[in-house]
Amino acid sequence: MSLRQFPEGFLWGTATAAYQIEGAWNEDGKGESIWDHFTHRQHTILNGDNGDIACNHYHKMPEDVALMQALGLQTYRFSLSWPRILPEGRGQVNAKGLAFYDRLVDNLLEASIIPNITLNHWDLPQTLQEMGGWVNRESIDWFAEYAGVVFEKLADRVPLWTTHNEPAVLAFMGYAFGNFAPGIADYSQAYQTSHHLLVAHGKAVQLFREGNYNGEIGIVLSVNHYQPNSDRPSDIAACERMYQTNTALFADPLFKGEYPQPLFNWIGCHAPKIETGDLELIATPIDFVGINYYFTLNIAFAQWGGLFKLDSTQVSAPGWGQTQMEWGVNPPGLTSVLLDFKNHYGNPKLYITEGGCALPDTPNYEGFVEDWGRINYLRSHLIAAHNAIADGVNLQGYYVWSLMDNFEWAHGFFPRFGLVRVEFDSGKRIPKQSAWWYREVMDRNGVEE
Ligand code: BGC
Repeated sequence: MSLRQFPEGFLWGTATAAYQIEGAWNEDGKGESIWDHFTHRQHTILNGDNGDIACNHYHKMPEDVALMQALGLQTYRFSLSWPRILPEGRGQVNAKGLAFYDRLVDNLLEASIIPNITLNHWDLPQTLQEMGGWVNRESIDWFAEYAGVVFEKLADRVPLWTTHNEPAVLAFMGYAFGNFAPGIADYSQAYQTSHHLLVAHGKAVQLFREGNYNGEIGIVLSVNHYQPNSDRPSDIAACERMYQTNTALFADPLFKGEYPQPLFNWIGCHAPKIETGDLELIATPIDFVGINYYFTLNIAFAQWGGLFKLDSTQVSAPGWGQTQMEWGVNPPGLTSVLLDFKNHYGNPKLYITEGGCALPDTPNYEGFVEDWGRINYLRSHLIAAHNAIADGVNLQGYYVWSLMDNFEWAHGFFPRFGLVRVEFDSGKRIPKQSAWWYREVMDRNGVEE
């Protein structure tokens, strides 16, 4: 066995998101989010689950930070709940909500853990949804107001910031397919949402620059790997359409200041309304991109395949099966998406802001889980990331999704993604085997091959 050593200063951490862990959905002045609203409707979530209590992190925060310290984390990526800070989305600030994040940041710094804050991990205030949500162009200003409040309070101490988590997933799952909040199924709204998210991102980045804060700011993209089902031109073109609507729709305007025109020709009347100056704003230089990679899809042309006329199937590398999410496991796909950013977008600084898997963990009588499957998953993906670094990719850190088992959106509590097991009845946290394994990876700054 040899050790794959990562570059000096490589950052190791874990990630979570507010709605998935905090609970306390209506406490201390917090407003309703679109996820509170969506999960409280019947039959939207598997088993009728919701994030009302989730991991109860809002009340267990000091204990959770102590746990992170015990596990040897160097950095922790988390999101802020916008309606906890601005219950109506704008206007009145909820001092208690902001104070929670202030304490979280201080506790992390005391534990020598670098905070990495995501402003928008999908839980838009419901009041704003009632005014049209992200489809309303005013959302750009709402987001800037929220970002301004947060920067003023926390940017003196937080070195890493991202504006949105996975705008593609927010826009398409939330506004085109309707499986996520706010549950709308309309491609035009999805593309308009994507555009407003990007302009809002650019505006927040400019605000951050104007504040002269010391930290770095970027955005987190969900970049699956796509491969054509065959070398037939129709499959290759379908694969290109998939890539354009998931990745290039965001990365092109961010890095090249333009949208992929072939995509807009294809979607025709669904293309968003763009105003003068929008593309310049979107292309405001950022410090890094966060990459979330989970799977690789095989794309085939399909006559009845919806707007994009395609069909997708999960790919598993030889010897690998599927996870609890029914996602294939394909580590080389991670190397490919990282190389894509190097080759097509000017080799920007990257962090892998999410990587991990849900597995049907089986605890022993003490609640301990020997999750060798997760260890193998993480090891193979870290090796894939290391291969990309060897090929010149500017990768600077890795965040496991997730610190602990949590509320997995439309799947509720069924999938378990954590390095730490959470017993949802009692709220008890029990680090899994993978947590101790990851501790060793962080300590050695490397992974055994
Ligand atoms: C999201 C997380 C989610 C994870 C696993 C990502 O799309 O950012 O919130 O839990 O994937 O599905």
